[in-house]
Amino acid sequence: MKELLLIVLAYLIGSIPTSVWVSQRFFGIDIRDYGSGNAGATNTYRVLGSKWGTFVMVIDMLKGVAATSLYIFLPFYMHSEWDRTNLMIGLGLAAVLGHIFPIWANFKGGKGVATLFGMIVAMQPLVAVCCVGVFLLVLYLTRFVSLSSILSSIAFAIFILFIFNDDVTLYRIFSVLVALMVILTHQKNINRLINGTESKVPILKYRDR
Ligand code: G3P
Repeated sequence: MKELLLIVLAYLIGSIPTSVWVSQRFFGIDIRDYGSGNAGATNTYRVLGSKWGTFVMVIDMLKGVAATSLYIFLPFYMHSEWDRTNLMIGLGLAAVLGHIFPIWANFKGGKGVATLFGMIVAMQPLVAVCCVGVFLLVLYLTRFVSLSSILSSIAFAIFILFIFNDDVTLYRIFSVLVALMVILTHQKNINRLINGTESKVPILKYRDR
């Protein structure tokens, strides 16, 4: 019962629509009406600038860390490695679902990447560092955040299945689910990438000068 309450709490934390609230409170707009229409850090960066984009990214990531860390409130008898991992997966996924379908913003949220990343930071920091490496490399080479998100999530599954070889079955299943979920939430981006209409983030502006 307590676990269920924590999962609901994790969903509510994930539901905090950072980009929607920032755009409404400080700019009088709804971020979902601008740019890619996504309620996430990339679109905030695109529409409201780097300062707010970074702010949204950090908060959305911290939602994943905080929600996943709720496992510390579970009864002591559930603190075996196996229970801990499985419960963290449940809590983290609830937060990611909250981010994608936020109760505080008409269930129209973001694509879950920053919150998923926060979850991985809380569970396996070393894997998170490797995923960031893949993300930054793809971003540096292509300047597409969407492609970086998709490829780093696929890399995450490969890391868990073949390199870090985690032996908790649910975690292995989860790693594949993460890749599928990110591909699913990026359907529009994938279409735009194929059509050649996906926008690039001007992270490396100095190169354009
Ligand atoms: O994580 C979201 C990012 O990969 C793409 O966002 O706004 O370009 O659709 P956006």
